[in-house]
Amino acid sequence: MAFINENYLKLQGSYLFSEIARKVREYKEDNPNAPIIRMGIGDVTKPLVPEVVKAMHLAVDEMAVASSFRGYGPEQGYDFLLNAIVTNDYKKRGIEIGTDEVFVSDGAKSDTGNIGDILGTDNIVAVTDPVYPVYVDTNVMAGRAGEFVNNLWNKLIYIPCTAENNFIPEIPKQKFDIVYLCYPNNPTGTTLTKAQLKTWVDYAIENKVLIMFDGAYEAFITEDDVPHSIYEIEGAKQVAIEFRSFSKTAGFTGTRCAYTVVPKELMGYTKTGEKVPLNKLWNRRHTTKFNGVPYVIQRAAEACYSEQGSLEVKNVISYYMKNAKIIKDGLEAQGLKVMGGVNSPYIWIKTPKGMNSWGFFDYLLKELNIVGTPGVGFGPSGEGYLRLTSFNTLENTIEAVERLKKISL
Ligand code: MLT
Repeated sequence: MAFINENYLKLQGSYLFSEIARKVREYKEDNPNAPIIRMGIGDVTKPLVPEVVKAMHLAVDEMAVASSFRGYGPEQGYDFLLNAIVTNDYKKRGIEIGTDEVFVSDGAKSDTGNIGDILGTDNIVAVTDPVYPVYVDTNVMAGRAGEFVNNLWNKLIYIPCTAENNFIPEIPKQKFDIVYLCYPNNPTGTTLTKAQLKTWVDYAIENKVLIMFDGAYEAFITEDDVPHSIYEIEGAKQVAIEFRSFSKTAGFTGTRCAYTVVPKELMGYTKTGEKVPLNKLWNRRHTTKFNGVPYVIQRAAEACYSEQGSLEVKNVISYYMKNAKIIKDGLEAQGLKVMGGVNSPYIWIKTPKGMNSWGFFDYLLKELNIVGTPGVGFGPSGEGYLRLTSFNTLENTIEAVERLKKISL
């Protein structure tokens, strides 16, 4: 008899984005001609940039010839990509990261979900609220979240980020061991300044807290005072793991490549208080459960850093940020309260007329044929909000903003 991990039975419904996809599919079946504009899941629409495609073609050709064919690669990533990452994403910002502190993977979703493998199940976990659901659901799976009571996991600490605190998370009064911070934030699109992030790093150093810093939206930062990496903050290497991704940065949502930085000086603790480098544990986990990102994909990721490649990638980001401005300006002109869209592809909208999140989602889907993501799907403090993405085409974005004008306030 195979016993199951009963924590899975505690999970609520289906994964948020699968649930939305199901609702949209059903609506589409009943209304096959509905001109639906998808602004729900943060999935890109622009193709891979030419430099990336060129690098992939070259790599495919190498794989077709015995002399340059490659089988298993290093699980942590090829040196050419690790070097490109540490040079461009860190050294250029004055941050020293060793190539043996970087682990190339197939996604920040996988890594933020899997990182819990190396951490004890008794840790007290804090999450901002609203939050990217992967952090919560994977802690439920591991048994760290407790029971779901009155719409809250009773062992998780929720850090509300709402209009009342200007979406800036306050350090909880209760003791906690691990905190997930995603900045620029998914879903609210808000940011932390260096000074604000520093208060978290200082607290973490003082209290031996581990920060899981998800920087998947770093490439969308336009303002100067917003840190691109948590390691810009002094001492952060002692307390933080950083997750980065090529998905939104370079349109790799279907191509799959990301990386995680686990600094060598970052320690975890045994029950008896002995220090253990988390880098060593993550390396063990990674090499045991993962065989590396395909060579062709790693060459594609490397191409994002060449002079021409980075220019092309930046142009795509500008395209999406232009869309973000169109959405933000359009909705604000209508009198709606809107966050995000300045350093992020996400626009976080206060629902009109006190509608709840799913009510507004249904209204947008059925009346305006626009798909958003209900804020409450990201946590209780997301109730009364809805998220739109700027990842659609310019034409669809303009059309969506036109349709949104029909919302009567
Ligand atoms: C989102 O829409 O929040 C993201 O696209 C989901 C993801 O990156 O997995």
